[in-house]
Amino acid sequence: MKMWAGRFEKELDAGINDFNSSISFDWVMYKQDIEGSLAHAAMLGAQGIISAADAAAIEQGLLGILADLESGALEIDPAAEDIHMFVEAELTSRIGDAGKRLHTARSRNDQVATDLCLYLRTKIAELTKETRGLAAALVGLAEGNLNTVMPGYTHLQVAQPVTFAHHLMAWAQMLRRDLGRLEDCAKRMNQSPLGAGALAGTSYPIDRRATADALGFTAPCPNSMDAVSDRDFCVELASAAALLMTHLSRFSEEIILWCSAEFRFIELDDAFATGSSIMPQKKNPDITELVRGKAGRVTGDLVTLLTMLKGLPLAYNKDLQEDKQAVFDAVETALACLRAFTPMVNTMTVLSQNMRNAAAKGFINATDCADYLTKKGMPFRDAYKITGALVARCVKENTTLEALPLAAYKEASPLFEEDIYHAIDLDTCVAGRASEGGPAPQAVKRQIAEYKAALGL
Ligand code: ARG
Repeated sequence: MKMWAGRFEKELDAGINDFNSSISFDWVMYKQDIEGSLAHAAMLGAQGIISAADAAAIEQGLLGILADLESGALEIDPAAEDIHMFVEAELTSRIGDAGKRLHTARSRNDQVATDLCLYLRTKIAELTKETRGLAAALVGLAEGNLNTVMPGYTHLQVAQPVTFAHHLMAWAQMLRRDLGRLEDCAKRMNQSPLGAGALAGTSYPIDRRATADALGFTAPCPNSMDAVSDRDFCVELASAAALLMTHLSRFSEEIILWCSAEFRFIELDDAFATGSSIMPQKKNPDITELVRGKAGRVTGDLVTLLTMLKGLPLAYNKDLQEDKQAVFDAVETALACLRAFTPMVNTMTVLSQNMRNAAAKGFINATDCADYLTKKGMPFRDAYKITGALVARCVKENTTLEALPLAAYKEASPLFEEDIYHAIDLDTCVAGRASEGGPAPQAVKRQIAEYKAALGL
């Protein structure tokens, strides 16, 4: 018999009961549901809305349910409508009438919104911890590769030389913004929906500030209708997760390239790569491919939430029950990806000589050659043209700027001297790019120091 069976003459159709039920996915919020009920019951007692004895019985009953769920002594009933109904029914079966008083001045609408905020708050903390872990791994690897020269690309064509440290810190900076978004999201969702009732508050003398305080919210949500129908916090969190996943996916794409025979910039540890069932030579970067694939899934979760919300009138609508699988999937997927990614990064071998060799190809120092002339007084556009012609000559003669004889340089411009070879040397090129945020080891060192200080790493 449903708790809401009063005005019904028939039992709910069994198939529809399953269709309507959310217990298969909202059971994960059992702890938050009990925490919310504990705060609500204590407030009802303190306000004299229920007796102190009933409040105490409810507290004892709820704590017993929590303990039994955690020990496994009590199992969640898969036929229950949702976690809220399950806990309340269990409470009433344990303590009788006092249990029936728990739902005074409360609706499942404010209850579910509260539970979800509390639950997602714990998930934001987990995501933050894991994202910081990956950021720390990247910084650690960067610190050991300040002088590891590698090609920087635009259009996936060799562009200008950078260092592996600089490249890694670019990813670290993305994660820093991800952390900021998580923090921001946690801050904005820190208002308590509890006490909003079904949509229009209540006539009981409740104390919303007390329950908000007890549950660690900064204040009650200011509008009861908004409180029960708002799922912006799910959208914001899924959005932060989707962007984080987009970063991991782009990074994955690079790692996949770097593992290929054509690049060979890194080698993954055997414990973090997989083989092929047929090709004995294969060592596949499956983790990164899965992360790249799962990024699409999390974007899908975000789109699910936005689409679910876009046509909803105020206030609660059952469509909102669809929020949970989407946002839970977004956070769990991102967490699983982070947990796989960090040890993979921590254990990969950097093949620095291959990076350097790759940087020595493709006229990566052509800009530096032009800059050499510019620093000797030639307008940059003219220097650019002359260098372009030199590159064309190298291509035709199958040589490099480093190997081109001084006579050839002098033919192109009398400004060229013997020191051109030093100017276009890879290490010089990198060390010279010491502008703020640039790849020169000194500049990256400063970047890392600022990063560590900002994140408290
Ligand atoms: N299981 C529901 C959900 O996840 C709880 C709220 C139900 N409220 C209602 N009025 N039927 O949204």
